[in-house]
Amino acid sequence: MTQTLDSRALLSVNDVITAAPSSSCDAELARGPWDFDLAPGYGPGASEFDVIPTPVTRPGQLPTAYQRMSDDELHARIRAAKEKLGSDLVILGHFYQRDEVVQYADFVGDSFQLANAALTRPEASTIVFCGVHFMAETADILARPEQHVILPNLAAGCSMADMADEDSVETAWEELMEVYADEADADGLASVIPVTYMNSSAALKAFCGRNGGIVCTSSNAATVLEWAFARGRRVLFFPDQHLGRNTAKAMGVPLEQMPMWNPRKPLGGNTEADLIDAKVILWHGFCSVHKRFTVAQIDQARAQYPGCKVIVHPESPMPVVDAADASGSTDAIRKFVAAASPGDVIAIGTEINLVNRLAAENPDKTIFCLDPVICPCSTMYRIHPGYLAWTLDGLVEGEIRNEIVVADEVARDAKVALERMLAALPR
Ligand code: 13P
Ligand code: SF4
Repeated sequence: MTQTLDSRALLSVNDVITAAPSSSCDAELARGPWDFDLAPGYGPGASEFDVIPTPVTRPGQLPTAYQRMSDDELHARIRAAKEKLGSDLVILGHFYQRDEVVQYADFVGDSFQLANAALTRPEASTIVFCGVHFMAETADILARPEQHVILPNLAAGCSMADMADEDSVETAWEELMEVYADEADADGLASVIPVTYMNSSAALKAFCGRNGGIVCTSSNAATVLEWAFARGRRVLFFPDQHLGRNTAKAMGVPLEQMPMWNPRKPLGGNTEADLIDAKVILWHGFCSVHKRFTVAQIDQARAQYPGCKVIVHPESPMPVVDAADASGSTDAIRKFVAAASPGDVIAIGTEINLVNRLAAENPDKTIFCLDPVICPCSTMYRIHPGYLAWTLDGLVEGEIRNEIVVADEVARDAKVALERMLAALPR
């Protein structure tokens, strides 16, 4: 087993998937990136009010010349453009980004760190975000107005972000306001505070800004819930039910007081009494990568490596988080690995690109993914070096390609909720 893991760590996820499609959770991933990218239209994971770039470069429309370039040529172009653009360009990369791309990032981090990183280079005229759509929107909201934000492939959305749209959240909010209309205001607390996970459209961040709410990331979710409970009796948490449940449970909120809100049902499928008794109302959303982790995988890892340590991301289901030795954001996982001793065996429940990178960076430890099937974040994976080369070449030629522009009124309200988030430091 160690043999397989070690050799896997030396190969990029892309190499493994293309060599053996059956090793991945989605055989579609093994199709060439240009075919694979034909599927979705503009902006999965985007706010519906985003200003759509013109002409919009739809997924699959990467110029044929770039589709045909060899890897060597693409990488030579990226290096040359980066060199030419110098400090006028900053590239941000999420921990889940594929190695072929993340190697060019000036900052690599988790969602919270990258939101801060967007603020640290005001002299750069362009931020190229090698992550997903909601991250690029956030950078656009936080950056100086003159700065441009580029998402190299507009198909890099987030399926979880798409699970809560603005209309459904507005409807839920109106229904909740009716349920709580008669509540006495003796304690000066609001009836409910909206909290959106960073993994949501700018429109939902704006909704939170307008309604006394806040954004959280997986690294500061507990601080954010404390902030919310200092201001309200309850929280409406969207879109990730698992992060909401795991965080609130660790803070002592009983499961009976965490009803689920199903946007397809009246009152989210709850009774008025449930909602009055609720402390955290959880939206019916999840991450397709993290929902794959199971307690059986943890049992299997422990059976194979007695004494191994298990850490999982809090987007994983509650029984998995409960069975693990620790849980935390991508950066917390990185720190957990760094703090482990040589010879330790660590099973990780998070996205495969990060797990493989940690394995490669820590050859003195045995590190592997709990999920035996390779399952990258298939949307982040869409940032192929071809798209990076094409957008950077555009900058060299004075053309901004695939710019992400959040409409002014959305950005104004979303910034309120994001600034509250930035002040809520991870513990
Ligand atoms: P963090 O970067 O906050 O750990 O979140 C992981 C994730 O799913 C990003 O989409
Ligand atoms: Fe969205 Fe999951 Fe990918 Fe994160 S890992 S960007 S939550 S699909």
